[in-house]
Amino acid sequence: MTKTLGLIGAGNIGSALARLAVAAGLDVVLSNSRGPETLTDLVAELGLRARAATPAEAAEAGDLVVATILLGAYEKLPAAELAGKTVIDTMNYYPDRFGPIAELDEGGPTGLTSSALVQRHLAASKVVKAFHNIDFVRLFTLARPVGAPDRSALPISGDDAAAKAEAAALLDVLGYDAVDIGTLADSWRSQPGTPVHVDPYFTAKPAQELSQEEMYGWYLRTPGTTVGIDQVRALADSAVHATPDHA
Ligand SMILES: NC(=O)c1ccc[n+]([C@@H]2O[C@H](COP(=O)([O-])OP(=O)(O)OC[C@H]3O[C@@H](n4cnc5c(N)ncnc54)[C@H](OP(=O)(O)O)[C@@H]3O)[C@@H](O)[C@H]2O)c1
Repeated sequence: MTKTLGLIGAGNIGSALARLAVAAGLDVVLSNSRGPETLTDLVAELGLRARAATPAEAAEAGDLVVATILLGAYEKLPAAELAGKTVIDTMNYYPDRFGPIAELDEGGPTGLTSSALVQRHLAASKVVKAFHNIDFVRLFTLARPVGAPDRSALPISGDDAAAKAEAAALLDVLGYDAVDIGTLADSWRSQPGTPVHVDPYFTAKPAQELSQEEMYGWYLRTPGTTVGIDQVRALADSAVHATPDHA
């Protein structure tokens, strides 16, 4: 059972997970690229269960570690300190926004998944993809305790059954049911552009045209929509590769 959650990345997703983890009674060790001293405010807000460290220290401290940086920096994840651990990968590939990664583009839509690439770098760790298909606001606001009628589910994928069970147990504690959609090679079924990615948790649209600032306020305030286990499975099953045949 996870007692200490290590976080490599303390931005939108990392801080949302840290808040959920502290609320669930876990200890968290947060890290970023600029150094622990830049996380003072967040650690103060999180309270006594939180501390800041370097990425290598967070990796060593975590019973389970979440890698939640931009995918382009995946080779900076501290492989030696993460060896032997389950690592949850929240990272998505957005070539248009953050630049292309040749190895992901070479194979085309049926090639290497981003999480398989991360697993290759973290060869001695067990990578599980999770928390990648929901935006950071809804990730926080849709979390519910076990048995709540409006509890949502999230897809997980990975190559190691025990690591997936560990990740599912973490999801459970943080407020989500887990739906196992297969291996890291299968994780394309939940990548950006697929039916289970972000939109289902976020169905409401603003009633009128908004300025950029108003839009952001709306984004922060608008409630999420419950997406249950059966719906997650059906959405993941319905994914098709964006090949020319299915474009
Ligand atoms: N935003 C969402 O709603 C959302 C939803 C699902 C999945 N995701 C995915 O989750 C990941 C994180 O997204 P985000 O929105 O949380 O990003 P973000 O707000 O930009 O935060 C990124 C974090 O990663 C840290 N970081 C960058 N390079 C690092 C390194 N080499 N070592 C340690 N930490 C490093 C940054 O620290 P510094 O600030 O010190 O550089 C920052 O704390 C992305 O891959 C994204 O695709 C995001």
